[in-house]
Parts: sequence; C-alpha cells; structure tokens
Amino acid sequence: MAEKILICVAWPYANGDLHVGHLAGAYLPADIYARYHRLAGNDVLMVSGSDSHGTPITICADQEGVTPREIFERYHARFLETQQQIGISYDLFTHTDTANHHRVAQDIFLRLLERGYLEKRVQRQLYSTTENRFLPDRYVEGTCPNCGYQEARGDQCDNCGSLIDALELINPHSKIDGSTPVVRETEHFFLDLPALQDEIAAFLAEGKDHWRPNVLNFSRNYVNAGLQGRPITRDIEWGIPVPLDGYSSKRLYVWFEAVIGYLSASIEWSHNAGQPDAWKTWWYEPTARTVYFIGKDNIPFHAIIWPAELIGMARLYESDPSRYLNLPYDVPANEFMNIEGQQFSKSRGMAVWLPDYLEQFDPDPLRYYVTSVMPETRDSDFSWVDFRRRNNDELVAAWGNLCNRVLTFAYKNFDGRVPVPGLMDRADVGLLARIDVAFEPIGCLFDRCKFRAALNEAMALARETNKYLDDKAPWFQIKEDRQAAGTTVYIALRAIDSLKILLAPFLPFSSEALHQYLGYEGSLFGRQYIDTFTEQEKGAHSALCYDPAGAVGAWRPSELPAGQPLRQPKPLFKKLELTSTNAV
Ligand code: MF3
Ligand code: ZN
Repeated sequence: MAEKILICVAWPYANGDLHVGHLAGAYLPADIYARYHRLAGNDVLMVSGSDSHGTPITICADQEGVTPREIFERYHARFLETQQQIGISYDLFTHTDTANHHRVAQDIFLRLLERGYLEKRVQRQLYSTTENRFLPDRYVEGTCPNCGYQEARGDQCDNCGSLIDALELINPHSKIDGSTPVVRETEHFFLDLPALQDEIAAFLAEGKDHWRPNVLNFSRNYVNAGLQGRPITRDIEWGIPVPLDGYSSKRLYVWFEAVIGYLSASIEWSHNAGQPDAWKTWWYEPTARTVYFIGKDNIPFHAIIWPAELIGMARLYESDPSRYLNLPYDVPANEFMNIEGQQFSKSRGMAVWLPDYLEQFDPDPLRYYVTSVMPETRDSDFSWVDFRRRNNDELVAAWGNLCNRVLTFAYKNFDGRVPVPGLMDRADVGLLARIDVAFEPIGCLFDRCKFRAALNEAMALARETNKYLDDKAPWFQIKEDRQAAGTTVYIALRAIDSLKILLAPFLPFSSEALHQYLGYEGSLFGRQYIDTFTEQEKGAHSALCYDPAGAVGAWRPSELPAGQPLRQPKPLFKKLELTSTNAV
C-alpha cells in the first residue's frame, strides 16, 4: 500500500540568495527523500516557501532603503528559479504573504487563544531611544548568556543554538546604530509552553528510536530544563496582523507563523489541485508520516514549538472530534556545512551562491558532491578542490564513463539496439543478482535519511560494474565471439539501467538523460514549473510546482528488453580543470 509522506522543508528567509549551506542543510536531503519515495510509489507531498516576514527581512530593507515587500518579492522570484534549476522538486513552494497563509495563521492564533494556550502579559523589551522604537529579535545583538558568543542576536544564539530572551543578552546594542537600548514595557501574547510541557515531553519520550541522537538529545534537554512561555507577537509593522481589535501596531511573531506554513501550504496545494480536502490525508491520517528537513539551528522550533502549536490547536478545519493533527514523525536536522574550513559568512564572502554556481556548472555534480559530504552527523566542509576532484575521480570516472563506454559500444556495434544475450556465466548472473538485491537495503537507507551511505552503496555497485566490464572486455570479445560480447553488453546495460534508478534521487538530471539514451519513452520524474496563482484579497503570487503526471520511474531492478532501440548517447558529465582555484 502506498504510504502518505509529507515532506516539510525549512522556509528560507527571502533576504538574500540561496547558498550551498541551504542546499546541504535542508533542501537537497528533502529532495532526495522525496524522489526516493516517489520512485517507491508512495504518495509524497513536499511543501515549503519563502519566509517573507520577520526582522531578517526588515533589517535588509532598512539597509537598502526599500520596502520589506520589495526585498521579499525580489528574492522569492530568485528562489523559484534557482530551485527549479537545481531540481528541488517541491509540490508547492509558495510564500508566507499569501491571503491563505495569513488566514490559517490567524485561525490558529484564535484557536489557541480560545483553548487557553495564549495569555496576555506585560513584557519588558529593549527599546531604542535614538530611534523611538522597540528593538525586537535581530534588531539587537550582544553576548550570549549561555555560551559567551559575542554576536548573539536578540532571538537566538548562532553559536550554541539556544533561544534567548533579548533582555538576558550581555552588553546589548542596537543592530541599526550601535546604541545601547533601554528597557520599556509592552503588552504581548505569550504561548503557554509550561501548560504544554508534559505533552511535549511525552511526545519526545517514545517511539523516537529512528531520530538522530543529536536532535533528540537537544530537544529532550531543552524540555527537561523547563519550558518558559514565549511571546508570539511583536511591535513591528511588517507581518501578519493580530486578528483582534486594539492590536493594530502589533504583528504575529515570524517563527510562530512561519512553521504554520507547512500546514497552510498543504492547504494551498490542495486548493490549487481542485481537491480542497486532500491535505487532510497527510495531516490527519495517523499512518501518514510527516518529516521535517531543517538545519540544526531550527531544531527548537520544529521539535518543540511547532509540536506545541499542533497539540494546542488540537484540530483545525476538521469536524470529527476524535481526529488530531499529526505531530512530526521525524526531524532529521543536518549540522552545518562550512566553506573552505571557515564558517559561512555573507559579509566575509564565505559562501557558495547557488545562482553563481549554476551559471558555470550543471546541477548534478553539486548534488553529488554535497551529498557525499553532507553534514548528517557532524559539521562538514565544502572545498572547491574536493568538489572538482570528486567530480572527476568519482562522478566522471566511476559512473559517467561507465555509461558512456557501454552505451557507445552498444550503439556502434549492435545496430543501435540492446543486444540479445546468449548463454550467461557466473559473472554475468552474479553482477545482476548483486544489483537486484541492493534495491531493498539501499531503499532502507533512503527511508532512514542515511543519504551518504546510500550514495556510497550505489557507487560501489557502479565500481563493480566497471570491474565486470574490464574483466570481460567486450571490445576484445567482439573480435572472436560476437554473441559473447553481446551478452556482456546486455548485462552491462541492465546494470546501468538499474543504477540509473538507484542514483536518480541524487542525480535526477543525468538519470533522466540516461533513461532517454537507453531508449525509453516518458520521464522518470514529473515536471517542475513556475506558476502564478491569484487570490482575491492579495492578487497574484508565483510558486514552484511539481506535476507527477506521466512519470514512469519505479524503484525496482531493470527489465530492459533485448532489442530495444537506443538513442545516440552523449557523455553525462564533464571533467573539470583541477588547476583553477575558486571558480565562483
Ligand atoms: N526562515 C528560517 C530560517 O531561514 C526558517 C524557517 S522554517 C519555518 O532560518 F518552518 F519555520 F518556516
Ligand atoms: Zn550561545
């Protein structure tokens, strides 16, 4: 039976281009997981969008002297292009400034209020007397009270990951003019996390053996330390209005509403598909799995605060009182990817920007390299030399050349068709058997989010196929025994046809090309496209979409028929110069 799999991917702040850290942290693992599950015949829904609110956007707008809307619209449009090009196959990548998202977020706010999980409190907040305004979240920086990191921000410390109350920052100063803020009182709504503490602890206590230990330990420690109420409104203009009279100068806190995007985007997708209730299969059916791909700095919001919102709202747009929204099945957060041994930093130019990369190279080599060094259990490092080396020594040498050798030889010597095999020996049967039985264990690795290991296993089979081909040497065989050469080529074609599927979640573009060279009709995956949707209240917005119609890829060994006409092959990958330094 097809499983329902909801894939939730962290929503990037629309205040700058996407870089390799985004890719390694969340988007690539999510896409690999989605493509595997689609091939395996499961019902995948993968959603995300641009995070359009919050101080990261307004600070950027302040610095450029433009409106926050201008910033988020500019980068949202670029996110769509970049992610289409690198092949992140969201069913829907929308943004948080849609009327739909505003409505869902406000409904959840009201529902939590009605159920007693929100309370009004007078809060002490940092206030700038030079600018006459409150300094929420990233408007203030200072020293982390937990770890002593000097550039901690008013909402979170990037060094130790802890969420902080800006009032606890040591030596706080305004991000805008460096002045020292004073403390003023202001009234805000607080999410009553202490009231939800037991239920969150219970959620984290059981059935979490498949969680990554670092994610589980971080979350459990966090809850065990005792949860505090958290303010979910802000004194700021850009954001979703508080749906109550008398709060016109306040907005919902960006993190409170951004996580709601997973739900609102599922609803938007259903609406666009003309099946307004379709989202409920993923959100209400207890057997559906909801998996959240995020970077480690997002763990508290996805393993604690979002589950708290889900528990607190109990149900939404659902009349059956026995049904509850699904809590995260897994939160396979990745660690960070450093660049050339240094921490990612926009200001110091320590970044690999995806639009720059894509101007020079194809998407699959980056997908390959980033997977091979994916920070699944510890921080890892991106290096240009290593990228080029792995492209040449692994992707080209072990996989691309294998395909090219076999396809060219078959195309030239066997009338452009898959040869009809003769008698098979142990090596022939053995190779196919080893590849056939690998589908199950490699599938398990994908399902358990062990992508590096899955890639290693698949590449090991490519190397075995190379060895098989070298041992058999059909280019010599053909001089004496055409039938024997035909058998070898047939076996090798079957092998690369299977490997095409085993590698497709990592290398969707080259697997599609190979699928064509092997003479098949149809494509392995569906089509990604950018579309525009119009809402009465807010007008048009564009989104990245995925149409699965016509996809023929399936997670099973090759059944390549003898005699199938091949298409003229071309090399799948290019060798890269090793001598040049930073290409981008
Ligand atoms: N915008 C946040 C970031 O870039 C991530 C938000 S994930 C969400 O760190 F689900 F909350 F939207
Ligand atoms: Zn810290």
